Amino acid sequence: MGSRLIGYGSYLPEKVMTNQDFEKIMDTSDEWIVQRTGMRQRHFAAENETVVDMASAAAARALENAKLTIDDIDLVIVATTSSELDFPAVGVQVLGRLGATKNMPAFDVSGACTGFIYALHCARAFFTAGMHRRIMLIGAEKMSRFIDWTDRSTAVLFGDGAGALIFEHSTSSYSGIIDTVVMSDGREFEMLHGSMDHHIIMNGPETYKKAVTLIPAAASYIMEHAGITADNVDWIIPHQANLRIIQSGAQRLGFPLEKILVTVDKHANTSGASGVLALSYGLDNGLIKKGQLVLYPAFGSGLTWGAALVRI
Ligand code: ACO
Repeated sequence: MGSRLIGYGSYLPEKVMTNQDFEKIMDTSDEWIVQRTGMRQRHFAAENETVVDMASAAAARALENAKLTIDDIDLVIVATTSSELDFPAVGVQVLGRLGATKNMPAFDVSGACTGFIYALHCARAFFTAGMHRRIMLIGAEKMSRFIDWTDRSTAVLFGDGAGALIFEHSTSSYSGIIDTVVMSDGREFEMLHGSMDHHIIMNGPETYKKAVTLIPAAASYIMEHAGITADNVDWIIPHQANLRIIQSGAQRLGFPLEKILVTVDKHANTSGASGVLALSYGLDNGLIKKGQLVLYPAFGSGLTWGAALVRI
């Protein structure tokens, strides 16, 4: 029992904040941000624009792309950690927004920057068990909600946005979500977490050191598990946290630069939305093509980390 990808969509808020815009409001520079992170701009949601708004917009585009309506879906899973409402789940609110007229399960997973891999992991298990025919996965984040505007070391790093993928059950195990692995280690949570007053607390250098080790480890593990090498993979889309982390991890794994999809310069770190936004960007721009194999390793608060192999 496997799956195949039948639709995708994304949404980025209209407002773009460049490094130069940050220069005007805090002690930072375009040069520092580009050198340390590779980021040049990020999208920020309007004040009244919510995670549900962005998730619904991406989901609507994915449904349009698949030529389906929300009633054709059997399960919705949303990867997010930034919902404005503590409950209900963003997934349930998306059903309401998109006018679902039938009942179906919908829930959120909280895996921070690894969240979308956790969503893919759940979907793979449901397909393997033969429990659902069509599953919509959404990654949606309003990271700007958590920005501490007095902390230049984290304020410049994040962005907002959402992406969605629709998978359908398939008898082939060579398409769709081919393999997933997810891990977590709660002993390290203080390195990177949200505070009670909704700000990002991060030890940047320690997080960096963990990321450059755990991202290649997850990618190596999944390639070995699937019995493939870097030569069999068409694209690697690492979590878009920092260009230096992306390049060092991918090169350590033996991926040439032209196989690494990078959007961190345009979107910055959109946490649980980062990989699916990058995948949508690759598809929209004709970089990623039908039949290609994509490897998506990620790392984030928790600590959480993991990887997914998806055939487009
Ligand atoms: N502009 C200018 N200077 C700055 C800025 C800024 N925006 N931020 C920090 N600095 C300064 C610091 O104050 C420090 O100055 P000092 O030497 O005078 O004390 C200097 O730059 C170096 O600071 P470091 O923190 O050591 O910089 P580093 O090279 O480690 O880069 C960065 C910081 C970009 C955050 C890096 O550590 C990093 O990318 N870490 C990983 C982040 C990550 O991967 N997060 C992933 C998960 S996010 C999630 O799960 C939600």
